[in-house]
Amino acid sequence: MEIKSVTVAGGGVLGSQIALQSAYKGFDVTMWLRSEGSIGRAQPKLDRLVGIYTQTLEAMKTDPHAYCRGLADSPDVPPEKLDELVARAKAARGAIKLTTDIAEAFGDADLVIEAIAEVMSEKEAFYRSITSVLPERTILCTNSSTLLPSAMMDFTGRPDRFLALHFANNIWKNNTAEVMGTSETSADSYRSVVQFAQAIGMIPLELNREQAGYLLNSMLVPFLNAAEALLANDVADVETIDKAWMLGTGAPLGPFRILDIVGLNTAYNIVAASPQAQDPNSTPGRIAALLKKLIDEGRTGVNAKAGFYTYD
Ligand SMILES: NC(=O)c1ccc[n+]([C@@H]2O[C@H](COP(=O)([O-])OP(=O)(O)OC[C@H]3O[C@@H](n4cnc5c(N)ncnc54)[C@H](O)[C@@H]3O)[C@@H](O)[C@H]2O)c1
Repeated sequence: MEIKSVTVAGGGVLGSQIALQSAYKGFDVTMWLRSEGSIGRAQPKLDRLVGIYTQTLEAMKTDPHAYCRGLADSPDVPPEKLDELVARAKAARGAIKLTTDIAEAFGDADLVIEAIAEVMSEKEAFYRSITSVLPERTILCTNSSTLLPSAMMDFTGRPDRFLALHFANNIWKNNTAEVMGTSETSADSYRSVVQFAQAIGMIPLELNREQAGYLLNSMLVPFLNAAEALLANDVADVETIDKAWMLGTGAPLGPFRILDIVGLNTAYNIVAASPQAQDPNSTPGRIAALLKKLIDEGRTGVNAKAGFYTYD
């Protein structure tokens, strides 16, 4: 199915990015927010993103490192074309419709992307609330990071047209989109979503089957855990562990630089969720304690200008 109209549910960190990026690439975009207050909170997020798109496109005129893959197909775009893209970003922002009305938001959508809170009961209530107004043709996607689509498909009333489309944060530059169906997802829905992801400037990463953590986090979380364990068990210090990874593999960043980017709160929440972390003498318990100490000192990562490292 060819997708033209897209409704994004939720206007938080990811919902606002998905909406603007889709509008920027020419789709007819509606955002559904659950209250007028949520609309009020989504508007400045969209404005901020337009500012980032504008600054990035301006910087691309002179700085080759400014190139963002989601904003232009190649780094060699001439300046006048970049001006057109700035105008396109501003027009896209103006064209996004924001509404709290379920029938208006979902009654004529080709594709719905759900990006509401990561709480199963709230996802269930959301999917159940829209089934009666959705057209037969509509494909539903969840952007959930941790909940499997098979655990939600029965709420949708259309398991064959339901799958996960998982974006990375800052989608205009980190432009991967992991596409993951359930055993019930139809091949046609899956293909349509892969094509849509390409059309909005993403690089679709196709999963053949369901996997908690998708591709990236299935590799990244164990890798970061291993580095944290080396530190917590005092095998080596932060710089030495990072050097081992970078010099040994040629990677540009070591695990502790990556942890600073992810944010130490998220790293703490992941390790603290393990039952073993309750035992302060276990490795997860030690990792949780060292992350908690840094968090309590305000060293939560790059956004706070300090984490394992200090940033200017
Ligand atoms: N933040 C990330 O880096 C990231 C990356 C990939 C995927 N995700 C996923 O995207 C989804 C949203 O994450 P986020 O970071 O944008 O969250 P967020 O907290 O920034 O935004 C959530 C949005 O949903 C709305 N909302 C919350 N509960 C709701 C409900 N019950 N009904 C309707 N609307 C509701 C909020 O008002 C807000 O607009 C989650 O499933 C998350 O796992 C997040």
